[in-house]
Amino acid sequence: MKLDILLGLQWGDEGKGKVVDVLTPHYDVIARFQGGPNAGHTLEFNGIKHVLHTIPSGIFHPDKTNIIGNGVVIDPVVFQKEIEALEKIGLNPVKNLFISKKAHLILPTHKWLDAMLEEQKGEQKIGSTLKGIGPAYTDKVARNGYRIGDITTPNYLDKFSELYKKHADTLIKNGFKPKKDITDVFKEWFNSLQTLLRFNFVDCEYEISDYLKGGKKVLAEGAQGTLLDVDFGSYPFVTSSNTVAAGACTGLGIAPSQTGRVIGIVKAYCTRVGSGPFPTELFDETGEKLREQGHEFGSTTGRPRRCGWLDLVALKYSIMINGVTEIVLTKADVMDNFDSFKVCTQYRIGKETTRRFPAEINDEIMPVYKEFKGWKQNLSELKDYELLPQAFKTYIDFIEQETGVPVSIVSTGPDREQTIMVRK
Ligand code: GDP
Ligand code: IMO
Ligand code: MG
Repeated sequence: MKLDILLGLQWGDEGKGKVVDVLTPHYDVIARFQGGPNAGHTLEFNGIKHVLHTIPSGIFHPDKTNIIGNGVVIDPVVFQKEIEALEKIGLNPVKNLFISKKAHLILPTHKWLDAMLEEQKGEQKIGSTLKGIGPAYTDKVARNGYRIGDITTPNYLDKFSELYKKHADTLIKNGFKPKKDITDVFKEWFNSLQTLLRFNFVDCEYEISDYLKGGKKVLAEGAQGTLLDVDFGSYPFVTSSNTVAAGACTGLGIAPSQTGRVIGIVKAYCTRVGSGPFPTELFDETGEKLREQGHEFGSTTGRPRRCGWLDLVALKYSIMINGVTEIVLTKADVMDNFDSFKVCTQYRIGKETTRRFPAEINDEIMPVYKEFKGWKQNLSELKDYELLPQAFKTYIDFIEQETGVPVSIVSTGPDREQTIMVRK
């Protein structure tokens, strides 16, 4: 068996959570491979909306195994809140959720460092979710990190104190003052470790290898999106992990030869939350309309998402980097009442045009658009590909022709049921 990978091909919030939930019945195991509580993955079924930050989106299927991989960074306080929400609706995640011993912990000081660094950047700030992601990954790479496995060792407090001291030195030197009472914050953090300790800590590389050898189907769930990847995204306005398909190998302990399908999630338009370049961003009432109709407000921070047209230059780049084998197109229903809409097919930079995503994206990039006629029909009630309006099918065909990748699923609403398998 090969491990399949599902990830976002834009700047995050493409609808990964919903699609993982829809695909979970076809898999035995769902595993998150990177990111942390900066992610907000939304699922809707039976009229109820759930938002997950750290826990894989397969958790609502009690017969499926979920794994938090070594590539993830975990804030135990956020984790505890997620577990409490799941237990409230009658789920028992202790039974089907396993955590890698090698995943790293986010300390309260990581969050303060995040805030301090953003403040120092001033105008150049990343627009971080301030969940401590960057500082936690920095400690991992600097070989100072605090891992899940550490909390079960007798000297867990010494290791914690050592790291805390390092952080406190930097924070004090920079005159940073936390907004909340420090004692309360640490009390809450240490208490939340008790929730983590109820779970099984595993060597996820062995677990997944055994699952695959035993013929089980495993799906790796990405967080953020390709254009937020620390190497290939719009650097420095990116997150601090590898969000691309290769990240599933390092974030779970899987060999590249063990990977199979790569399912890329694409919104029918484009959004970005936080700072950084966004060539197809709309600053007019059309952008406002996309935000309103698409409810484009962050699942983690509630910030309004910046909205714009689909960018094929960026999308083709994402497809290349990830080796995408199929596309899931989400949120086209948001454009149901648009008379027309646009897609960027190339960039004009000065007198030149290019179909390549440049290493440095700046204000000189002007998108070149192709305009399409809207379908002016409610997609969210349709259940069959054949019933989709021709104008929408033309859009799907165009995306397939341009990218050379088939669209396998179309999502037409936030609910599990609002999903159409494309069979041509
Ligand atoms: P993720 O981070 O990629 O999992 O995406 P988010 O959950 O942050 O954002 C996607 C938002 O769009 C959520 O509110 C979903 O409930 C919603 N959503 C997902 N798919 C669709 C769709 O096809 N149509 C509409 N209208 N909403 C969708
Ligand atoms: P999901 O998984 C959208 C953005 C932040 C910021 C930048 C760095 O829900 O798609 P960080 O907190 O990682 O230091 O922030 O990345 N960002 C996301 N944007 N969806 C996400 O996750 C994101 N996670 C981080 O807004 O611009
Ligand atoms: Mg999200």
